[in-house]
Order: sequence, then structure tokens, then C-alpha cells
Amino acid sequence: MPDRIQTIAYPAPGSRPSRRDPDPLAPHVIVLFGATGDLAKRKLLPGLAYLQQSRFTPDVRIIGTATEELTSEEFRARAREAVETFGMHKLTDEQWSQFSETLDYVPVTAGPEALATAVKAAEGHLGPDVRRLHYLSVPPKAAQSVIAMLRDADLVDRARVVMEKPFGDDLASAIKLNDFVHETFDESQIFRIDHFLGKEAALNILAFRFANGLFEPIWNRNFIDHVQIDIPESLGLDQRATFYEPTGAFKDMVVTHLMQVMSFVAMEPPTALEPRAISEEKNKVFRSMLPISPTDVVRGQYSGYRNEEGVAPDSDTETFIALRVEIDNWRWAGTPFFLRTGKKMAEGQRIISIAFKEAPKTMFPSGSGVGSEGPDHLTFDLADSSRVSLSFYGKRPGPGMRLEKLSMQFSTQETESAGDVLEAYERLILDAMRGDHTLFTTAEGIESLWDRSSHLLEDPPPVKPYQPGTWGPNAIHQLIAPRAWRLPFEREWRE
Ligand code: BG6
Repeated sequence: MPDRIQTIAYPAPGSRPSRRDPDPLAPHVIVLFGATGDLAKRKLLPGLAYLQQSRFTPDVRIIGTATEELTSEEFRARAREAVETFGMHKLTDEQWSQFSETLDYVPVTAGPEALATAVKAAEGHLGPDVRRLHYLSVPPKAAQSVIAMLRDADLVDRARVVMEKPFGDDLASAIKLNDFVHETFDESQIFRIDHFLGKEAALNILAFRFANGLFEPIWNRNFIDHVQIDIPESLGLDQRATFYEPTGAFKDMVVTHLMQVMSFVAMEPPTALEPRAISEEKNKVFRSMLPISPTDVVRGQYSGYRNEEGVAPDSDTETFIALRVEIDNWRWAGTPFFLRTGKKMAEGQRIISIAFKEAPKTMFPSGSGVGSEGPDHLTFDLADSSRVSLSFYGKRPGPGMRLEKLSMQFSTQETESAGDVLEAYERLILDAMRGDHTLFTTAEGIESLWDRSSHLLEDPPPVKPYQPGTWGPNAIHQLIAPRAWRLPFEREWRE
């Protein structure tokens, strides 16, 4: 019997596991590769610290490893700084010292035996049923050597391995990487993570679409004009040039996060919220995607990018991308999906906007304002405190028939369980420890996406410059015309 989505099965934050909680988790040793990197600092260490004090997790010990030569003491000091700077939940001194006691560090240069010794020592503290979770927070090029190290260290039994995106660089390298990993781990042990799928708001798309009778009947090409998945970021490289320069916005964000989220918007109802059924529906969306044509893509690079430390003076890496995607199936043929993301843009937002087909307008008097603010929309905000808004035309009070755009909005902050929101990585780490693959990506899905991207990767259009603090190069307007980008919002979200 496959695992089901476990949302309702989790104990409340702050509570201790009770006997009634399903499937008590085995204790875990977590080996964190890339432990001094940006992701570990911003998300993984703060997330693990929170999970541990919220008692969601069983007994855990964490072994950090990276190329830097640090002692365990130095690593703990870095971890403390990371948790204090980036953690959404602050730790008391007592909570910190509990967490810190579980942290150790082994430099990669110490070799597989040293790692194996550290893992066995950690297991000694945790008892007989201990499991291993290897978290590979490393770039695609380093993934193979980490897998080889785990094999040489004999750390494969009782283990699961979480692999970060991007998974490979193109179709050939993804296939090669999958084959290589399969020589050591079987598929049930592999968790390819895409943290956007762990966001509360992304999961809410499934609830919204499939738990209500209202929207699903109109969720298709007959009623929806187009969809926008728009994730501009105001932040820049943040000392990540070594990762970003060979990666760029398409591989960092689009072939990963934006397309995974798109599959939640576009998929057919799965037979159950369980891994096989969800993956199959997502993979059908990817297989129905038309190959991305380079003429449907705008690549941009912010002015000043080439002067950043670690960036080549003639770099062709895109820091911005906007594209049109077509899903050629019975539900979506003719309804384009517009995707956009970039660094150093005017605002940080993460929205999915569904634009409905416009109504006939001639019955309204001229100058009434009908249609003047674009089509009616349903908008999902993928922020941690997720929001949904339905905007529509309504009558402005008073004489005559003047229309204006109004909206109904909902925020998870309004619910009593607002405090239960788990950060995406927290949720997914917990799911991986439970062995629940529902929100992880599959080899087949990733390979289809690389396959549909191959024309673009072989023949990318030249990067166009844009000024930091803007919405990208001017060509984005031609890409979407005669429609218009939904952002920037004409009205702020209501607080
Ligand atoms: C990461 C990308 O996967 O996602 C980053 O590598 C990006 O470049 C980040 O900034 C965005 O994630 P979130 O959850 O902060 O929106």
C-alpha cells in the first residue's frame, strides 16, 4: 500500500509524539553534504533546528560535511549563526544547546572511512533501528562523487538519499546521473527534491482544485485564456556565483520549480493523493508539453552581472527568463502558460495567475469600464503565508453602470492553524524520513522536461540586458502580447 500525503497525520507543532501518532519515525543520522553552503545556511540547518525542537522529528544526529576544513566546534558556531540569522523560529539557549549537541562535522578531504566512522559513532547514540538520510546539497557536477563516497563508505544500507535540483544539466547528463545513482541506490531510496512542491501554497493548489466543485469544471481551454507563473526575485547572486554562473535562471528555476508548479496547475485529477498516481499525472503533463521553441523565450542579464565576483566578463548566463509553454492535450491545447523569473527584479513575488476568457462586453454602455482592467483572474500567492484572490468586475455604487475590478481574498494567516505552516524544506525532509515520495520528482518526469528543453539548450537566444530593479528586458511585452503581465499588481494584497 503506497504512502499517502501525510499532512493531517503530523502531530501539532510543539507537541510530543503521542502513542496515537501514526508510524513513529525511526531515529535518523542525517549526513548533510554541502553543509557550509548557502542552502544549508539559509534553509537546511534552520529547518532541522526547528524540526528538532518542534518534536516532529525522532531522535536525530547530524553530520555536516563539505570541502572546507572545519572542526565540529567551528561548524556548530556557523550553524548557530545560520539559525539565528535565517531561522523563522528563534531558539532559546537551552534549545540551541540541545540542537548543537547533535551536530558534528567531517571534512570531505578526510575520506570515506572517516565519514563512516562518524556515522557509526552517531548511530551508537541512537539505538538499533537507526536509519540514514543523506542530503546532497551540492551542485549537479558534484553529485556523482558524493554517491561514490557513500558507496565507498558503505553507507547505503538503511539509507535514503535526497538529491537537490537541478538534476543533471540536460537530458544526456540526467540519464547518466540517474543510471549512476541506480548502481548504488534503488529508486525507493532516492528523493529528488524540488522545494516548491513542499510549499504550503503549492499543495493548496491541489486542495483548491480537487476538493471543490466550483472551479474544476471550468479548469480548461474553454474557459481559461492563459496562465502566468511569475516568480520575480529582488535578490541578486548572494555569493552564489560559482553555482549560478554555469546554471542560469532556466536550470535554476524554470525546468525545476516553475514547471513542477505548472504540473500541479495543469494535471488531471489523480486517482489518489499518493506518489504513483500524482507522478503519473504530472508526467503526462510533461509529456504533452510541446518542445520549447527558442523564439518563445526571452533571456535577460541584469546590467552589472558581468562585474560580479566569480562571473566571466563575457558571461552569457541568463539571470532572467520569460517563456511561453504550450501543453498540447485535450484540456490545454491553445491556452498558453507564460513563465517568468529573474534576479534583481523590481519586486520579490511568487504568483500563479489564471486569466479567464473575457465576457461579451457590448451590452454595457460605452465608457462603463468593463474589461478595462484585463480579464477576471484567480491568483495564488506561493508565499509561506499563502493567499488566493479572485478578482472580478462589479458595479461601482451610485447612479449609472460604472464597473470596476474588485476582489475576494483569502489568506492562510486567517485560519486557526496558521502557526502550523512548515517551511517547504522542513516538510520535505520530514517526508523523506517517512519514506513518502508524494512530493518528490521522478527520473521520468525530469528526463521529459530536459527533453522538451533541448532546442532551447542547444540554441539559446542571446541575452538581452535589463536594469536591476525592473521587470526584465522590453521584449517580455511582445512575448505575451496581446495579453499583459499581471505583475506589478494594480492593487496590493489586503493585509
Ligand atoms: C532556489 C534557487 O532553488 O530557489 C534560488 O536556487 C532561488 O536561486 C530560490 O532564489 C527561491 O526559493 P524561495 O523558496 O526562496 O522562493
